[in-house]
Amino acid sequence: MPSRIASLRAAGRSADMARVTATVYTSHVPAIGVAMDLGRTDEDYWRPVFAGYEPSRRWLAEQRPDVILLVYNDHANAFSLDLIPTFALGTAAGYDIADEGWGPRPVPAVIGHPELAAHLAQSVIQDDFDLTIVNRMDVDHGLTVPLSLMCGPRDPVQGAWPCPVIPQAVNVVQYPAPSGRRCLALGQALRRALASYDEDLKVQVWGTGGMSHQLQGARAGLINRAWDNAWLDRLIHDPRGAAQVPHIEYVREAGSEGIELVMWLIARGAMADLAGGSAPSVRHRFYHVPASNTAVGHLILEET
Ligand code: DHB
Ligand code: FE
Repeated sequence: MPSRIASLRAAGRSADMARVTATVYTSHVPAIGVAMDLGRTDEDYWRPVFAGYEPSRRWLAEQRPDVILLVYNDHANAFSLDLIPTFALGTAAGYDIADEGWGPRPVPAVIGHPELAAHLAQSVIQDDFDLTIVNRMDVDHGLTVPLSLMCGPRDPVQGAWPCPVIPQAVNVVQYPAPSGRRCLALGQALRRALASYDEDLKVQVWGTGGMSHQLQGARAGLINRAWDNAWLDRLIHDPRGAAQVPHIEYVREAGSEGIELVMWLIARGAMADLAGGSAPSVRHRFYHVPASNTAVGHLILEET
């Protein structure tokens, strides 16, 4: 139907293409996974954390994305100081759950999307991003805790995650980490890459990690509510400004592990307004302190 195609083209979409429908942002605190795995989510300490994700779980079940492009960081489980890729894209058919020292989390293995991932690699590398291509890796709490939070408990054997997941790992563990600017630009390149994939797929991009936390040293336990919430405002309304925040500000204001927040800029960069389209709408926003040593932040932005 040419008129439909013409109007979709005018809106920057073709009839058959992968497209970003929404972005999701969430902390990945490992103790959240432990609380779910040990059935402790109803304890007074944890109840308010999980309550903040109840609307998100209903929303995700309604949305039924075809693929989740999940931006996360590995914590020296798949990679180590031997090999430190800045941006590593998972192109495998599947990913096992990493053993982080206590055995793998009892959650389903992750099904990948090798065809779309290979296309993203082709497109993004030709768009001047030097991605590392990963054909085999295990995924740690950085990827599984956001899935557990958003999808709810899943039987490790009988269960499955709701759709294939493409892991996009980012080095934020060993300096030099990528700048916020580079992360935002990678998100923009990923959006362009999706738009040239000839299959009608609803894709969500998730940015994970953060918010303020510091796990070691004299400032261990640092939480900065005011800075976290101002940063969320900025991510929503002024993503280009948020991308200019220098590493030293994350570390000073949000603690040494607060630097994980640069990964949220990849998801944010994949939204329409960064490609000249309209601003997203805020579907859900949640902030809670504390969970383990960390402030939990969570946001769902929808394309309009
Ligand atoms: C904690 C948070 C993290 O992001 C992480 O990777 C490990 C531990 C914590 O709050 O305990
Ligand atoms: Fe972490």
